[in-house]
Amino acid sequence: TINQLHAREILDSRGNPTIEVECRLADGLTARAAVPSGASTGQREAAELRDGDPARFGGKGVKNAIKQVHETIAPVLIGQDARHQAAIDAMMIELDGTENKSKLGANAILGVSLAVARAAAMASGLPLFQYLGGPGATRLPVPHMNIMNGGVHAHWQGADFQEFMIAPYGANTLREAVEWGSEIYHALQSLLQKKGLSVGVGDEGGFAPHVSSNKAPIELILEAISTAGLRPGADVGIAIDPASSEFFKDGQYHLRAENRTLDPAQMVEYYTRLITDYPIALLEDGMAENDWSGWKQLNQAIGGQIELVGDDIFCTNPAIIAKGIEEDIANAVLIKLNQIGTLTETIAATRLARDHGWGAFVSHRSGETIDSFIADMTVALDTGHLKTGAPARGERVEKYNQLMRIEEALGAAASYAGKNAYVRPIR
Ligand code: PGA
Ligand code: ZN
Repeated sequence: TINQLHAREILDSRGNPTIEVECRLADGLTARAAVPSGASTGQREAAELRDGDPARFGGKGVKNAIKQVHETIAPVLIGQDARHQAAIDAMMIELDGTENKSKLGANAILGVSLAVARAAAMASGLPLFQYLGGPGATRLPVPHMNIMNGGVHAHWQGADFQEFMIAPYGANTLREAVEWGSEIYHALQSLLQKKGLSVGVGDEGGFAPHVSSNKAPIELILEAISTAGLRPGADVGIAIDPASSEFFKDGQYHLRAENRTLDPAQMVEYYTRLITDYPIALLEDGMAENDWSGWKQLNQAIGGQIELVGDDIFCTNPAIIAKGIEEDIANAVLIKLNQIGTLTETIAATRLARDHGWGAFVSHRSGETIDSFIADMTVALDTGHLKTGAPARGERVEKYNQLMRIEEALGAAASYAGKNAYVRPIR
């Protein structure tokens, strides 16, 4: 039984305030959860409640969200059974009453939703991944490590494309995948230094040097994979999130780094070329959230060959995902808890995708905390893959570290998703 909900303002990895919530049960067990925050956000994401008081944190304070936890949510949830996650989330959705959770704040609601789940797991005496996923939750995901950052995550210092990830799908275990990721990361660091390029990092811990094309980071990463003694394509693939909504204006894609502008058909050609030239396993947000016809063209062109993940366009929202499935515009969906605002809806979004043969790619946000909830959730939902930043920086590695703990706890029962992680498996 929930006895107390306490929220407080803490800092996220970018130094901005965010909310963490503690859920205390009647027997004294207390669990804590913290809420992340994005920079390249989709327009239809659930709303973060920010104070807007310029005197504090440039308006980004979350005291109002905290007040909603204490004064609106807690009075209704105290006395409820923490194991009744769906009912608890439904109560908060009803209390809020808006389409996008703007009254109580998706940050307030999600903090409570996750703290309640963790408290219930503790009360059940189960690790979180098993509480959420049952005894069948034994498959470890392929970690997608974002080792070069561009776009808004690098404040437009580097490439236009936001994320260049490595996918160590040829490893035998999650632990080996993490080891490879770390070795490649360091090989890349040395390579950049040798080439006189900056080794300063972006928001997700990847390097963000000045480059003159969006292919340059791929070339650098391929070289780093080889230097680390691994085979590009066979052992380790590449995944890209251009976050193209950020450079889509007036119906055109503006590639600043390359000094050119492409229309949607040309952008599709660009990617078609890219996936023939390089071992790319997954492409996220190749097209912009307001370019549904471009998405459709892209899916028709290359959706049969690689996983095409929709992030900004779907916002983890089951209603929008349903429309995307109907119109056949992608073949996978990005899963971010705070885009929709409750654990129950996040699980529903994941199930909807999987039930229609789509992939579900779990993700952190660029503004993170050390909360590793998504590591457990990914194993529980058996989505086979996740992205949670570089294999460096505390808020990023904590998720990978948690996955290694889970693999260890599972022992011989553990398996690794490997090349079957994708909706279009690697051959
Ligand atoms: P965000 O970036 O957390 O800044 O939105 C992540 C992404 O675009 O996938
Ligand atoms: Zn994205």
